[in-house]
Amino acid sequence: MEPNSSNTPTARCPVDPTASQVVDSMERMAGAAYPDRRRSSARGACFTGTFTPTGAAAELTTAAHLQQEPVPVTVRFSNSEGNPHVPDAAPVTRGMATRFHLPDGSATDLLAITVPLFVAATPAEFLGLTEALAPDPTSGHPDPARVQEYVAKHPHLAGPITQQPPVPASYGSAAYWAIHAFLWVDADGARQPVRYRWQPAAGRTNLTAEEAATKADDYLTAELHERLEREPVVFTLYVQLGEAGDPTYDPTVAWPAERRELAVGRLELTAPVEDQEHWSAQSFDPSRLTDGIELSDDPVLAFRSLAYAESFRRRSQFTADQSASEKSDQR
Ligand code: HEM
Repeated sequence: MEPNSSNTPTARCPVDPTASQVVDSMERMAGAAYPDRRRSSARGACFTGTFTPTGAAAELTTAAHLQQEPVPVTVRFSNSEGNPHVPDAAPVTRGMATRFHLPDGSATDLLAITVPLFVAATPAEFLGLTEALAPDPTSGHPDPARVQEYVAKHPHLAGPITQQPPVPASYGSAAYWAIHAFLWVDADGARQPVRYRWQPAAGRTNLTAEEAATKADDYLTAELHERLEREPVVFTLYVQLGEAGDPTYDPTVAWPAERRELAVGRLELTAPVEDQEHWSAQSFDPSRLTDGIELSDDPVLAFRSLAYAESFRRRSQFTADQSASEKSDQR
């Protein structure tokens, strides 16, 4: 099935901001400077494990990790905020960034969060939202009137923006959606739009506000370390198969719930990575794809890679400058 790309948000809203503008705005939204951190999902921890495909995807994509053989993975779980001091119990989305290490030495990434839909249909809408959410200099919090004004001007985004994400009991007891459509390409070159979801084998459990209030600031990472001492943390990767007319270009719109789903693999996480510092300095990117998977025509998906590269450039540059200055102080 070929993707449906008529009336795309890009066609409706042709002017994209630059990655620099968006990352500047994300920095303002974080409320303070955290120059060595990711400009989103600043606090996180990495884990190691194995992904074993079920084989169910093999007819639809030539991607190496979706055939028959298991591949090693590295997963970074994170709290979505750009401020690394936001406690884990805050009602914000959580991230799960997975790197599949492929047999030929290359890699492909899959980034997912704990809500099924995004808050903006275009990069320009995302910029407008981050500007509306920047903390007011006097109160230190976003100005509710400004947020309401933004939502009133973008009523189609009211649902995703105003619904508070649940607070999971564990990084291993949340579902994570990659949100955008991607295109799977089979051996004959036919394309199938898909949307990914990680479903936890432990089931989905969330905290009440009272339970969340008793939790330590970093309880999600501590809990995952404890859980891994007892047992692996397991997820199933599902894809929803898009059909003719399902929009591939709009991350704010769900496909019909009755679309067929395939279980395409099992992820088993077994331990924290040994080199957290190394992994914390890496960059996961939804455009790091492999043969058999392509980006859809979603303008937010295409834009993300530029913003991630800009955030990576800024944090790497800061770390390099800092280490050069420490070396010169020691002389
Ligand atoms: C216009 C839309 C978006 C922009 C501008 C944006 C921007 C960013 C930036 C700048 C980072 C930090 C990158 C780094 O320094 O390595 C980041 C991280 C992340 N984003 Fe987005 N993002 C967008 C949409 C999304 C969506 C739709 C998802 C859901 C799948 C998502 C999931 C994540 C995750 C999971 C991380 C953490 C990756 C890691 O652990 O390294 N983002 N985002």
